[in-house]
Amino acid sequence: MENAEIKKELVKILGKDKVLVDDLDLMYYSYDSSFLTKLEPGNPSAVVLPRSTEDVQKVMRFAFENSINVVPRGAGTGETGGCVALKGGIILDLSNWDEIVEIDASNMQVIVRPGVIHARLNKELAAFNLFFPPDPGSSQMCTIGGMVANNASGLRAVKYGCTEQYILGLEVVLSNGDVIYTGGKKARVIKNVSGLNLTKLMVGSEGVLGIITRIRLRCWPKPKARGIAMAVFDHLDDAPATVLDVYQAGILPSGIEILDSSAIGAVNQFKPEINLPEAEAILLFEVDGNPPSVEYEGKMIAEIAGRRARNVEWATDPQRMTQLWEGRSVTATAAARVRPDGSRVFAGEDISVPLSRVADTLRSIRALGEKYGIKVVNYGHIGDGNVHTAPVINPENPEEVERVLKLVDEIHLLAIELQGSTTGEHGVGAVRRKYAELEHGLAVDYMKGIKKVFDPKGIMNPEKLF
Ligand code: LAC
Ligand code: ZN
Repeated sequence: MENAEIKKELVKILGKDKVLVDDLDLMYYSYDSSFLTKLEPGNPSAVVLPRSTEDVQKVMRFAFENSINVVPRGAGTGETGGCVALKGGIILDLSNWDEIVEIDASNMQVIVRPGVIHARLNKELAAFNLFFPPDPGSSQMCTIGGMVANNASGLRAVKYGCTEQYILGLEVVLSNGDVIYTGGKKARVIKNVSGLNLTKLMVGSEGVLGIITRIRLRCWPKPKARGIAMAVFDHLDDAPATVLDVYQAGILPSGIEILDSSAIGAVNQFKPEINLPEAEAILLFEVDGNPPSVEYEGKMIAEIAGRRARNVEWATDPQRMTQLWEGRSVTATAAARVRPDGSRVFAGEDISVPLSRVADTLRSIRALGEKYGIKVVNYGHIGDGNVHTAPVINPENPEEVERVLKLVDEIHLLAIELQGSTTGEHGVGAVRRKYAELEHGLAVDYMKGIKKVFDPKGIMNPEKLF
């Protein structure tokens, strides 16, 4: 079906207020934050802004009958092209559908529509002394629907795990317009082992199985206290060794971040007043819980880290905590500014490796940067082996683009070689699908088989994941 006709039909189905048809509006949807869509944006045929499950069903029935591709989208903060219609089709922009349907505090859960922004949810939950722990760096922007679709995690996964651990049930509209409820049609339970676990299947499915339209989330008691420790190391290997020492002492911090020398340099260049100590690595520990346990764990971390570190500081004063954490807060921005004509490439940026291989990984990435003559800034969630690499190039220079694509390919392959994964948190999208067979082998055939059950016509976010 021609784009003009698709737009006309969608306006008939949903009304003109819920359909975007202007080319300028559509252009905004041809990107996310990936390097891929910078190089090859994908224009959708139309964008719809559904506000109810029925709206989504109507769009899906129309798309199914006419074999039109459909791509669900949240805030578009993704880095893998996952929410871009690279093969054309309809984008379902769910970001305006942002009702918090019910905070069921007595059952430690909350029900939301997909467009709710992460930071807003936690602000509302705080009034009930509850919180939703996973914290992607994009809290002020990203939607819960996007977090579920990508099984997002981020800074606190060390202690609290990823989004999947909090999803109790979902409403999902399938490609033919059917609606299913996972986790029990009417259930309000936390524990449920009945049936095949379709909730887990849907979380992280990146829009290739269905459209998530309602999310029942588990909440946790909000910790009352927090503390931050910063440890400075002259030898890279001492950083992961210290992380292990802390675990061995029976302490599970809520977050453990690393900045290596490249990130320290980038931060100091970007904001000299932060003045991080020049070192091979800096570790930042976040501890949360009740005040006496935070105090105890912080002191233990300071003592343990002090065995290997040049310097350790522990703080519970809010202002000092913000100062200690500031280097980490600005790292992503600082990385993009390491050269004046530079731009950060989001590809190969969130590999995950075993904790015991983090130091090797950082050394190998530095060597790869040198091999390709590209500046790379390294930081990440060391507590769970999730490394962020930021190659910086001039994207206007085709020769540099070619070089960086080779570099990120090698970074992805390195991850698999080190018994890791090509993506620890940002997802596969279009960028990592070529590694699916290498990473999963025969299992990919079964993944494709599952997709066929939910999406027999192959219209759901095609050419993503595998
Ligand atoms: C971070 C996001 C980009 O950790 O994953 O900063
Ligand atoms: Zn991250």
